[in-house]
Amino acid sequence: NTYLVVMAGGIGSRFWPFSRTNHPKQFHDVMGVGRSMLQLTVDRFKGICPPENVFVVTNRDYTELVHQHLPELPLDQILGEPIGRNTAPCIAYASYRIAQRDPKAVIVVTPADHAVMREEEFRTNISKAVDAARSHEVLITLGIKPARPDTGYGYIQYLDQEDNKAEMPGGLKKVKTFTEKPNLELAKMFMESGDFLWNSGLFVWRADVIVQAFHNYLSDIAEVFDDGLSQLGTPQEEEFITQAYTRCRNISIDYGIMEKADNVYVLPADFGWSDLGTWDSLHRIGRPDECNNVVDGDVILYDTCECVIKTPSERLVVVQGLDGYIVAEYDNVLLICKRTEEQRVKEFVADVKAKK
Ligand code: GDD
Ligand code: MG
Repeated sequence: NTYLVVMAGGIGSRFWPFSRTNHPKQFHDVMGVGRSMLQLTVDRFKGICPPENVFVVTNRDYTELVHQHLPELPLDQILGEPIGRNTAPCIAYASYRIAQRDPKAVIVVTPADHAVMREEEFRTNISKAVDAARSHEVLITLGIKPARPDTGYGYIQYLDQEDNKAEMPGGLKKVKTFTEKPNLELAKMFMESGDFLWNSGLFVWRADVIVQAFHNYLSDIAEVFDDGLSQLGTPQEEEFITQAYTRCRNISIDYGIMEKADNVYVLPADFGWSDLGTWDSLHRIGRPDECNNVVDGDVILYDTCECVIKTPSERLVVVQGLDGYIVAEYDNVLLICKRTEEQRVKEFVADVKAKK
């Protein structure tokens, strides 16, 4: 039995003003295909996980939005979080809920902010990982060949052939080190060395194996959920979760478990993956014009190159003389920012919130 856990509770602040607290990027049609990121994420797993095994974990503020985007998903498969505590508590909640029903279930955990260009290859890789996870006590991540020394990712170093004696099926490699969000210097070193992969943030494991990992590496969080096991799946669940989250610290699964566990394996994979985390990612997946601008909107350009422009279709925008800028308007906010400074968007959002 294969389950899907979609993590859809982030606020996507690096994609501001397009991504907003009341309407984060996973609910937008970022790809311009008529489906939101969340819908595309769930679509991608059709045929891998039966609909009754799909769970979406999100903030309670977004459960209604999730319901609008996925009307066929029964409401009790939308797990609402009272506060955002990052991905470790999110995964604990869903995993305990599934483990209680079916401890040997294989769980695929997916972010809701990724683009996948080659769906068939994606499915093949997921199936390989699911098969391996079913019969082994391992934590699997899908690894992507890094394209640049991006500091927003986790970097995975795996053991090469000789050291990789412990036979694992399907091309899985034992992970030697996992480094979440290294600094630029380190990221450059990882890139140059050639034997690192990016953590895609797609994880595959058995319910009992991840619950054990919580006991081993995040025992404080395990304790919280152990206490409420009998309440999960009952009418008391919501109340239990409300108090449980106040007891959980804010930590990602990457820092909390993946960096520490000794049974982590990586499946090197290539399926046209991008994390749509920032404005630059939109430039990477978009179709550039002859001056390398990626434009979405009613825009006339003069002497403009290397820009990412996304504006509402009802607004005519004329731009002259910009080189390497983000121009983004959404819902009464206009952002104009150098592409090289895009990591600061998070900071701008914080300042805007403080001003209000
Ligand atoms: N339900 C819920 N609750 N979901 C959350 C929460 C939360 O508190 N926080 C984040 N998420 C969701 C986001 O919406 C996203 O879909 C996913 O979890 C990953 O969170 P991000 O905040 O986007 O993580 P990241 O991009 O900085 O880093 C992760 O992904 C990279 C690849 O895209 C890490 O796993 C890195 O190691 C990895 O390289
Ligand atoms: Mg992300």
